[in-house]
Amino acid sequence: MKPFLIRHLSGENFGRFPVWMMRQAGRYLPEYQAIRRNHSFWEMVTRPEVASEVSLLPLKTIEVDAVIFFSDILTLPYSMGVSIELKESVGPVVHTPMRSASEFALFREFDAEKHTGFVGEAQRKIISQLDPEKTLIGFAGAPWTVGAYLIEGQSSRSFDNLKQWMWRDPAGLAGALSDLGRATTQYLKAQAKSGAHALQLFDTWACEMPTRFFKDYYLPILNNILNELRDCRVPLIYFSKQTSHLIPYFDTLQADVLGVDSLSTLESLEAQTKAKFSLQGNLDPHILLTDEPTIRRETRELVAGARRLKRPAILNLGHGIFKNTPVAHARTFIEEARQLWI
Ligand code: CP3
Repeated sequence: MKPFLIRHLSGENFGRFPVWMMRQAGRYLPEYQAIRRNHSFWEMVTRPEVASEVSLLPLKTIEVDAVIFFSDILTLPYSMGVSIELKESVGPVVHTPMRSASEFALFREFDAEKHTGFVGEAQRKIISQLDPEKTLIGFAGAPWTVGAYLIEGQSSRSFDNLKQWMWRDPAGLAGALSDLGRATTQYLKAQAKSGAHALQLFDTWACEMPTRFFKDYYLPILNNILNELRDCRVPLIYFSKQTSHLIPYFDTLQADVLGVDSLSTLESLEAQTKAKFSLQGNLDPHILLTDEPTIRRETRELVAGARRLKRPAILNLGHGIFKNTPVAHARTFIEEARQLWI
């Protein structure tokens, strides 16, 4: 039998919504910080016994309905030998930025078993310990967002190199992102094989993409990935934020679920997308920094809005949980979100 979140998405009514939090296996958890003190970030990601333990950590303190696999959107390029360092309070740093299509041809050589066998091993370990009602979510970064890090080299506010490449040679950039996209497809297929019940593509920096590049070049790349993943028969989630300029072009996006930020209400997003997708979101993670009454009030508001939707929603935050969030506040959100309506 499939776990609760997946059955809920296919329309079964349980009298409550499934809920989890982006970045739930992260630095706001004291247990995460304790493990992190003894390992480098990439050690945690590549050692299956550590990655599986960290993925399951949130469940020890918080009753979330899904576990997101602990890894990073940059694991794929890292596994192919791209030198990436995670610098405290700077973010990911790529030592030799990749700025030509020929450099991206590297991703044609991607082999999930050879390069990311540790991911399959970690996911099988998670599944062997996971309550069958809980969902394992596998994920990858979407090509634009992963490409943005590889091309810029450092977390950038202006994306100068990416944007110059896009305007100078959009077809060349699209070719590079297609190579990355094919590797991403193989990577996600392998995750479904090793037990992931749903797959999420994180496209955090899609907010920076002009509509022209999106519809002429990028949408086909995304749809190639999503269409190829259809065979895996698992729900496909596409997360982006601040992409209201792109929403009019989502009518042919081949995802099942849209992960959305906190700026709009779920109802207005459903209306704008003509109820083509289930929605996942969208409590503002700042709310978890406030106080219990505010968290309860805003969560009840979110649930009430989600109940008015045509399609079954998944409750979540609108972006990753902040590292200074009190664990008790995260627990309050999950507890309130799981209240039965009936
Ligand atoms: O709990 C989970 O959600 C699962 C694990 C996960 C991580 N990163 C762990 C992580 C997931 C799904 C991601 C995705 C990710 N990584 C995204 C997309 C989602 C988003 O938040 O927008 C992006 C843009 C990245 C790139 C990245 N990796 C950033 C910006 C950072 C933070 C750098 C910093 O110093 O704040 C990372 C590192 C990272 N990824 C950490 C964790 C727990 C912190 C590493 C540490 O322990 O120092």
